[in-house]
Amino acid sequence: MLNPRLFGVLFGGLLLVTSLASSASLGDYEELCRLFKNGTQIRKPGTCDQYIQCFDGEGTLLSCPSGQSFDPNKNACVATLAGSNKYCGNRCEGLDGQWVSDPTECHSYFYCSNGTPLQGICPVGQHFEQSSQSCLYGSDSHCVDVNNICELVADNTKFRKEDDCSYYYQCDKTGNHVAKACSKTYFDVESGSCVATNKVECTAHPKKDICSISKKMEFKSDKATCRGYFVCRAFDTVADLDPLWQQCPEGYFFDDELKVCAVATSVVCTHNRCDGRGTRLVTSSSNDCHNYIRCVDNKEVEEETCHFDHFFDERKEACSSTIIYDKCCDGRD
Ligand SMILES: *[C@@H]1O[C@H](CO)[C@@H](O)[C@H](O)[C@H]1NC(C)=O
Repeated sequence: MLNPRLFGVLFGGLLLVTSLASSASLGDYEELCRLFKNGTQIRKPGTCDQYIQCFDGEGTLLSCPSGQSFDPNKNACVATLAGSNKYCGNRCEGLDGQWVSDPTECHSYFYCSNGTPLQGICPVGQHFEQSSQSCLYGSDSHCVDVNNICELVADNTKFRKEDDCSYYYQCDKTGNHVAKACSKTYFDVESGSCVATNKVECTAHPKKDICSISKKMEFKSDKATCRGYFVCRAFDTVADLDPLWQQCPEGYFFDDELKVCAVATSVVCTHNRCDGRGTRLVTSSSNDCHNYIRCVDNKEVEEETCHFDHFFDERKEACSSTIIYDKCCDGRD
């Protein structure tokens, strides 16, 4: 039998570890910057007078002058912040007998007892959802990083949905966020719009409708880049809904017909040919080897045609009068 006192010691130790782990994540809110556009300012969760300034994905924590609060809608420190009581005061005011979300953590909530917030924690792997007054498993809950993330930024802000480039989140006026889909395009956080997939760097390609029912393992293009492919497992009677995404080495592309990684100039592919190529010129898969694509930071910027009916030589990154028969473009309109 387990000695109850020993159990108490073990359990106490476990609690201590848990609370240390969660307090370590507290204060790391600079990471929120990865979700938002360059230059965004985010009120620090659980505070009114502190905010995070995002530049190039890095966050810097700043404080308002004494007595002021950060207003994300004005993008400035102000003397009075509407709703500040809710953001950094007592969230329980007027909500006796209800559960309210803790603005600093997804898995934490308060029970409001006679105006006093009593903190509680959801079971491991669950997030608190105020609208249903309950703890829900991750995929059923809406929490992104912290509860009520839209209270921290301006109304209507659009931000990344990290598990799928073809979606984004948008904050509404009530402080909630909804997931929205880009149709056959990817969300570009800098412009806040859906753009062609070859103009976005993405490591979370949509997995929907990629795999089919098969008795053997299959490799499928990610349909957005020339380098990336999915490994579909053979489940016999159902399709793999969660295939693993892989990439060919830099300079190599996935050949969807031969199902191998091959040198880029030998692979016909009209998806993003700049993925893994950095900033340089690469051969296009169109116009019979007369066209090239300008790559900037692994994204396609524009496609151009060599003058004087010249051919594009990817090895020299230049147009050439020598006839080029690269397999990726030879004989292709
Ligand atoms: C982010 O914004 C800063 C300041 O406006 C600018 O200097 C920087 O180049 C921007 N970075 C990117 C990746 O656009």
